[in-house]
Amino acid sequence: MTQDEQKRAVAQAALQYVPVGEIIGIGTGSTTNLFIDELAKIKHKIEGAVASSEATANRLKQHGIEVLSLNSVADIPVYIDGADEITRNMHMIKGGGGALTREKIIAAVARKFICIADQSKLVKVLGKFPLPVEVIPMARSYVAREIALLGGQPAWRQDFTTDNGNVILDIHNLDIMNPVELETRLNQITGVVTNGLFARRGADVLLMGTDQGVETITI
Ligand code: 5RP
Repeated sequence: MTQDEQKRAVAQAALQYVPVGEIIGIGTGSTTNLFIDELAKIKHKIEGAVASSEATANRLKQHGIEVLSLNSVADIPVYIDGADEITRNMHMIKGGGGALTREKIIAAVARKFICIADQSKLVKVLGKFPLPVEVIPMARSYVAREIALLGGQPAWRQDFTTDNGNVILDIHNLDIMNPVELETRLNQITGVVTNGLFARRGADVLLMGTDQGVETITI
């Protein structure tokens, strides 16, 4: 299967996790977009969706799926989203699309996180994909200096503003041996809104596209 075929296969496989009569959390990215297109076929089975980005909200609305504000929702049984990298421990790097903060908020609320990804995303050690960090604009240079002290090489994502009005620093050349510790450390830098390590709250299930079909991985 090509990478696109793998993405479509996991998007279809994720339908089995859609909570009937309830609200679903939806991530951001090309794999998630394919899932939204599949979800549209069974949209009458859900009450609505909470979106992790304006792009996702727009796509859901185009399909006639009701988009709810997170503040109006008490429970999200399932959150479905992609990843830029994921390990077999279910730790992830996310935020390639810049939606990491809203993704992390919905993931925190959700009872179950289903990650959908093609096999290129599975890694032994996180960090080859530059780690995104969302930063308050006035703190950009300060945060970059602090990140450099930790051994990373931050690069300002040019011409990009997050849905929250902030900037992204992508940290290059990291070998992330302890994702939980680094996630916590980065969040302690003043001016950081969120970082793209999803280790403290990782995925519960990985639906991974392979040449043979969809593999289901859990811890
Ligand atoms: C967006 C994300 C995406 O989940 C991640 O970038 C994967 O995207 P894609 O499915 O296009 O590979 O974290 O902020």
